Amino acid sequence: ADSVASSATDISTTPITGRTVKRDNFGLTRQLAFAIAAAALGSSFQHGYNTGVVNAPQDLVMDFIKNSYWERFDEEPGKQTVTIIYSIMVSIFCIGGMVGALSTAYVAEKLGRKVALLANNVFVFIAAGLMGFSKMARSYEMLIMGRFIIGINCGLNAGLAPMYLTEVSPVHLRGAVGTIYQLVITISILVSQVLGIPQVLGTEELWPFLFGMIIVPALFMMATMPLCPESPRYILIYQGKDVAAQKALTWLRGTPEVHDEMEEMKTEYEAMKLIPKVTLHEMWTNPWLRTPLLISIVVMLSQQLSGINAVIFFSTKIFENAGLTKQMALYATLAMGTINVLMTIVSLVLVERAGRRTLQLVGLGGMAVITLLLTICLVFKNSATWLSYLSIVLVIGFVVMFATGPGSIPWFLVGELFGQGARAIATSIAVAVNWSANFVVGLGFLPLANILQEYTFLIFTLLLIIFFLFTYKKVPETKNKTIEEITATFRQKTYQ
Ligand code: GLC
Repeated sequence: ADSVASSATDISTTPITGRTVKRDNFGLTRQLAFAIAAAALGSSFQHGYNTGVVNAPQDLVMDFIKNSYWERFDEEPGKQTVTIIYSIMVSIFCIGGMVGALSTAYVAEKLGRKVALLANNVFVFIAAGLMGFSKMARSYEMLIMGRFIIGINCGLNAGLAPMYLTEVSPVHLRGAVGTIYQLVITISILVSQVLGIPQVLGTEELWPFLFGMIIVPALFMMATMPLCPESPRYILIYQGKDVAAQKALTWLRGTPEVHDEMEEMKTEYEAMKLIPKVTLHEMWTNPWLRTPLLISIVVMLSQQLSGINAVIFFSTKIFENAGLTKQMALYATLAMGTINVLMTIVSLVLVERAGRRTLQLVGLGGMAVITLLLTICLVFKNSATWLSYLSIVLVIGFVVMFATGPGSIPWFLVGELFGQGARAIATSIAVAVNWSANFVVGLGFLPLANILQEYTFLIFTLLLIIFFLFTYKKVPETKNKTIEEITATFRQKTYQ
C-alpha cells in the first residue's frame, strides 16, 4: 500500500456489448509516475527544445554561417545565400523527423518501446557532438547534419513515447498521461527561448552550448528508463509472456491485483489475432483500420495546419509588426510560451472530464474564429492603434485555444484508436504526416506571408473550419473506454 495513491473499483456497462465489467481504477502510483517521467522528460524535451532553439540565436548563427562560408570559399556570401543555408539548417530537422517517424513501427516492434526509447539516445550524442563543435570546426555543414540527426531522434520519440505512455496507463488516466508528452514539449520550447536570450547562452561565444546541452535530458533518460518495465501490453502481445507482463503491470500499479486489466489486454490480443499481420496494404483496405487511420491522419494535420508553428517560430516578428518594440516583442514571446505551458496543464485536467472530442472541437473552432478576427485587426490596423494591441491579445488567444486540445490530443489519440496489432504502424504513418505538415508550414509561411500579407491567416481559418467539421462528423469520444471497446466500435460500424 506504500504506493497506491488512490484505488477504487468502478462497475460500468460496456456500451458495445452491454456486458457489465468490473474495472479497477488505480490511481497514479509512485512507480507509474516514475515511468512517465523517465519516458516523457527525456524524449519530448528533445522534441520541444529543438523546435524552439533556433528562434532566439538566429542572427548569431547567420553570422557564423557567413563567416565560415567566407573563410572556406574566400568570397563573401550574399544575404540570400546565408538565408538559404540557415533555412536548410532549420527545416532539415523536420525531414529527420519524417525519417524517424517512418522507422517507428519497425523499431517499436523489433526492440520494444523501452529499448527503442533508450537506444534512440545514440542520435542525441552524435547530434550534440556535431552541433556543439560546429563553431570550433568552422563548419555549418556539421550544424546541418546535427539538425537532421536530432530530427530523426525526435521523429522516433514522437511515436515511441506517446505509445509507451498510452500502454502503461490505466484507462481513466490515459488522456492525462498522454498529455504529458505535449506538456513537456511546451515547457522545453520555453526553456529554449529563455536559454537563448543574450543574458544566458545567446551570445557569440556561448551559442554552441545551446545546441550541445541536449545531452542532459539524454543522460537523464539513460539513468531512469532502465529501472522501468517494458510496456506490459508489448510483453504480452508481442513476446507472448503472460507472467512477465503481469509482473510489469504489478510493478506499475503497485498491487498484484491486476486481474481485470490483464483480462482486457488478453481480449485485445484475441481481437488482434483476427487480423493476422497488419501490413500497410491491410491498413488501407480493411475498413476497421482505414477509418481510424484517416482520423489519425486528419488530427495530425489539424495540429500542424492550424498554423501553430507560424506563431511559435515567428511570433517576435508578428508582435513587432503589430507595433511592439523588439524588446517588448521578445517578452511577449516568452509570455506566450508561458501561457502555452499553463494552458496545457489545464487541458491535462480537462481531458478526462470534458473528453477528447469536445476539447478538439473547442480548440479548432476557437482558433478558426480567432484567425478571422486577427485578419480583420491586421487589415484595419492603421485606422486605430488599439487594433494592433488587440491583435497581440488575439495571437495569445490563438495559443490558448491550441493548447486546449489540438496541441496534446493528437499525440495519444492515435494510440487509443488502434489495438496492439496496428498501433505501431498507425503511429508511424500519423507522426510522419505530422512532421511533413510541420515542414510545409515552416518553409511555406514566410513566402506565403510575402504574397498574401495581412490575409495570410485566412488560409488557416479555412483549414480550421474543415478540420472542425471533420472532427464533428468522424472523431469518436474515447474517454474512459478501453482500447478493446474503442476498436470494437470501428469493427461494428463496418457491419452496420
Ligand atoms: C505541438 C506541435 C509542435 C508545436 C507545439 C507547440 O507539439 O507538434 O510542432 O511546436 O505543439 O506547442
